[in-house]
Amino acid sequence: MSNYHIKHLEEYFQVYRKSVHNPELYWAEIAEEHFLWRKKWDQVLHWDFNKPEIIWFQNAKLNITENCLDRHLSIRGDKTAIIFEPNNPEEKADYITYNQLHKRVCKMANVLKDQGIGKGDRVCLYLPMIPELAVAVLACARIGAIHSVVFAGFSATALATRIEDCQAKLVITSDGSYRGAKTIPLKKIVDEALEKSKVVKTVLVVKRVDIEINFKAKRDQWIQPLLDKASPKCPIEIMDAEDPLFILYTSGSTGKPKGMLHTTAGYMVYTAFTFKNVFQYQEEDVYWCTADIGWITGHSYIVYGPLLNGATTLMFEGVPSYPDYSRFWEIVEKHKVNQFYTAPTAIRALAKENLDFVKSRDLSSLKVLGTVGEPINEEAWHWYNDHVGNKNCPIVDTWWQTETGGILISPVPFSTPTKPTYATLPLPGIQPALVDENANEIHQNQINGNLCIKFPWPSVARSIWGNHQRYKDTYFSAYKNMYFTGDGAFRDEVGYYRITGRVDDVIIVSGHNLGTAPIEDAINEHPAVAESAIVGFPHDIKGNALYGFVILKETGQMRDRDNLSAEVNQQITERIGPIAKLDKIQFVSGLPKTRSGKIMRRILRKIAGKQTTEKDLGDTSTLLNPDIVQEIIEESY
Ligand code: WT7
Repeated sequence: MSNYHIKHLEEYFQVYRKSVHNPELYWAEIAEEHFLWRKKWDQVLHWDFNKPEIIWFQNAKLNITENCLDRHLSIRGDKTAIIFEPNNPEEKADYITYNQLHKRVCKMANVLKDQGIGKGDRVCLYLPMIPELAVAVLACARIGAIHSVVFAGFSATALATRIEDCQAKLVITSDGSYRGAKTIPLKKIVDEALEKSKVVKTVLVVKRVDIEINFKAKRDQWIQPLLDKASPKCPIEIMDAEDPLFILYTSGSTGKPKGMLHTTAGYMVYTAFTFKNVFQYQEEDVYWCTADIGWITGHSYIVYGPLLNGATTLMFEGVPSYPDYSRFWEIVEKHKVNQFYTAPTAIRALAKENLDFVKSRDLSSLKVLGTVGEPINEEAWHWYNDHVGNKNCPIVDTWWQTETGGILISPVPFSTPTKPTYATLPLPGIQPALVDENANEIHQNQINGNLCIKFPWPSVARSIWGNHQRYKDTYFSAYKNMYFTGDGAFRDEVGYYRITGRVDDVIIVSGHNLGTAPIEDAINEHPAVAESAIVGFPHDIKGNALYGFVILKETGQMRDRDNLSAEVNQQITERIGPIAKLDKIQFVSGLPKTRSGKIMRRILRKIAGKQTTEKDLGDTSTLLNPDIVQEIIEESY
C-alpha cells in the first residue's frame, strides 16, 4: 500500500481508513517520505476547534520553494516546469525548465530583498497570467514574504481595500494585460488604488503590453533592469511549519473581504498529495488548469501542487473565446495536454458553441478531466464526457474552497467510479459530516444537510488576517467542534456527496464566490439609492446570475430607470469589478422584511427564480409588510 499514491479503489479504502484511524501517523509518513525538511516536527498535530487553533508539523523547519524547485534540479533540471501559452496564438509559447525557473525565482527574490522586503512582509501581486506571476509567488515564498495575489480583474477600489487590509509594502504589477481582443491598463488601476491607500512604498512594473504608463518618482520602476542585475542565486529563508505562506481574499457575508491565511508545511503536504492523486499525474504528463492564479485554484493547482510534484504545468494568459471558441482545444492539441482542469461555467459556455470547434481538434492526449468552483449540471457533465473526454476520461468533480487550501471531496480517477453531478467521496484525511438545523449530525444516507468537516486537515486556513474572531465566528461557531463550509450537500445511498450550493449569503457566479453584502454596499453608495438586496437566480451559462432589488431615494424617483441601472452597474464595476455586475435590476418601493428588520432573501430568491405561487413562497404572514411581495412579483421580469 502506498500512502502517497492511490492506484485502485481497494487502496483508496485502505488508505482512507488509515487516515481516519490514525491521521497523525498517516500524514507524518507522507511528510517524511516526500518532502525536504530542514528540521523535523516535534508533534504532528495539535488542534482545538474552540479557540480555534490548528498546528501541523509543530516546530518543523522548511522552505516550500526548496521543495518546489531546488530538490528537482539534479533529477529533472531540464524538464519543462511551466509552459506559457500567450493570449495571442501567433505569439510563441514559452517553455521554462526547472533550472530556468529556479534562476528566475532567485533573481526576483533578490530584487525583492533589495527593495527591503523580508520575512513576514506582505507583497501584493496584481498581474496577468504571465510567468512573472508564478515567479513572483515563489520569490516571496523563498524569502518568507507573504504574498497576497489579487485577481487582475478586480477594480482599483477592491485592490485598495486588499492592500490596506494586509498593509502591503510593495506591489508587483504590469503595464497592462491582454484578455482576448482587449488590453487592460493594470498599472493605471494600481495608480488609482494607491491614491486611496498610502501604505505601499514600492511598485515594480513588468512590461507586457507596451502601453504608456505614468511613473511616480521614488515609488515606481520597471522590474526588468533590476532582474537583469540581480544574482541568480538566493538562499532560502528557513521557515517554521506554521509561518504564513500567503493571504488570499475571499468574499464573506459582510462588506469586508476575508484575508484567508494559509501557512507553510500543511499547505505544502496537502496540495502536493491531492495534486498527485486527483489528477493521477505521471512524470511525462502535461497538466493544464485554466484558472487564474488570482484564485485559490491557481495557487494550489497551477503553482504549488504541480511544482511540488515536479510536474509540467501550463499557464494560459487568454480566454476560451479568443480568437475563437476552439482556443482551449487548440491548446490541448498543441501541447498534448494530459490532464485538463476547468470550471463548469466555461464548459457550459463552450457547449453552446458549434461542436466543430471541439471536433476539429485532436484531444486524444487527454487522460483526466476536472471541474471545480460550482456544481456541474448533468447536461454539461455529459457534454464534457462525450465530446472532450470521448467517453474515455474520468471526470473529477472536485469540491473545495479558498479556506480549505486543497481539494477535499473528489473522485480519485481510475479508482472511484464517477457519477454525474457528484463530487463522490472524501479524500484521505477528510471527515465530512452532514448536520441538520438543530446542529445534530445526520448519520443516515440519502439525505440533505449542511456540510461540515469534523477533523482538521493539513491545508485548512489558520485564520483571517487581522481578525481571528471573524474566523471563529464564520467557520467554527455554527456547529460545535466542526468546521462549517457554508455549503449544503446531499449524501446518496452509497455515501457519495453531491454539493447542492451555498446555504449562506454567498452566491457563486461563473465559479466566482461573491458575497451579497459587498455588492449591496457598492450599490447603496449611489446617491439615488436608499437600499438594495441581491439574490442569485439560475443562469444557463454562469450557473447563477445576480438579481438586484433596489429602493430609490426620493431624489431618484424621477430619474430614467435605464440610466440608473447602467449607473448602478458602473458603481459595482468600480467598487468590485465587472464580475459582480447585475443581470437584472428591479426598482421596488420596499423589500420583504421580518419584524426584526431582516430582509427575507428567501422570498426574493423565489421571485428572481420565477417561483411565485403561494406554495413556492411559503409563509409570508410573518413579514412586516406582506403586501410588498405581490407588488414586487407583478413588476418582476
Ligand atoms: C465554493 C468555494 C475551490 C476553488 C474555487 C472556488 C463552490 C467549489 C465545487 C464543486 C459544487 C463547488 C462551493 C464552495 N464549489 N467547488 N465541485 N461542486 N460547488 O473557491 O471561491 O472559495 O468558492 O465554491 O459553494 O463553498 P471559492
